[in-house]
Amino acid sequence: MNQITTDTSLVATVLRQGGVIGLPTETVYGLAARVDKASAISRVYAIKGRPLDHPLIVHVYDAQQCGEWGMLSAAARTLADAFWPGPLTILVNRTNRISDQITGGRNTVALRVPVHVLAQEVLRELGIPVVAPSANRFGRVSPTTAQHVLLDLADEVDLILDGGACLIGLESTIIDCTTDEPQVLRLGALTTAEITRVTGIDIAPPSGPSRTAGMLENHYAPRCRVELFETNEQALEALSWLVQKKQSGRIIDYGSDLATYAHSLYDDLRQCDIDNVSVALCVLPPPSGVGLAIRDRLFKAASK
Ligand code: TXA
Ligand code: MG
Repeated sequence: MNQITTDTSLVATVLRQGGVIGLPTETVYGLAARVDKASAISRVYAIKGRPLDHPLIVHVYDAQQCGEWGMLSAAARTLADAFWPGPLTILVNRTNRISDQITGGRNTVALRVPVHVLAQEVLRELGIPVVAPSANRFGRVSPTTAQHVLLDLADEVDLILDGGACLIGLESTIIDCTTDEPQVLRLGALTTAEITRVTGIDIAPPSGPSRTAGMLENHYAPRCRVELFETNEQALEALSWLVQKKQSGRIIDYGSDLATYAHSLYDDLRQCDIDNVSVALCVLPPPSGVGLAIRDRLFKAASK
């Protein structure tokens, strides 16, 4: 069977039968399985090599479908109305239809309604949500094209839906709405400033112990070493040192063009590995807007 397809009906059928699919979204590609198929969800954890206590995001067709799976608080509803479909994941208390397997035993569930047209088509046709962590091995770089999923997970997924390069290229923002004041658990494609501007809801930093895998210090990492710089000049200087030591390096820098940085970063890091580059020299974007999320990913990629 050709593993890459653009046939959303075929993908919905394979999911219905309990398959595991590479699914495009506007943020990154997900590794999707039906929310009610324990054996398929076990395969998702196994394929990723993901610890079983690291919960999965449940992807739903629309906010209406959410009620069966999570109990949306007033703040959660406001956020959903404002930003779904789109790159926002909302943490709410779960209903008893969500299994411990999905939440790692927590009482909460992370819900998201993707805006990608093909993901929407699949979810509508399937009629039931899917779990979908990013379709990469645990701790590695997220995939932003069908080819990335193919290269990483080729024989282990049943099918990959080709939805082109992900428009945004950076994971969704995760907001915990189970706390008195909503907290951001993972910076992402949607900025907290934008959330507050549109809804008037203030978003607090996370409190208490780490609640998402994305909060681990080392994540999003390519095989090559990642070094960070504040300016392009500093990166150039480091590159010339590498060259003197007969090592290869590649500068990743999109200046203040944050959309292009987000869109290209994961592909660039992956390309460094494909080209056997020893060091990716990344120039940090300015710490504002989506630059904050990009910096977060870069710090984590560099921390191994
Ligand atoms: O953009 C995205 O969110 C992508 C696409 C495919 O939708 N998905 C994604 O999933 O990034 P994943 O599994 O790579 O990251 C989800 C994060 C993890 O850090 C996980 O720990 C956290 O969400 N998470 C999921 N359910 C949770 C829960 N109940 N409580 C706390 N954190 C949760
Ligand atoms: Mg991930």
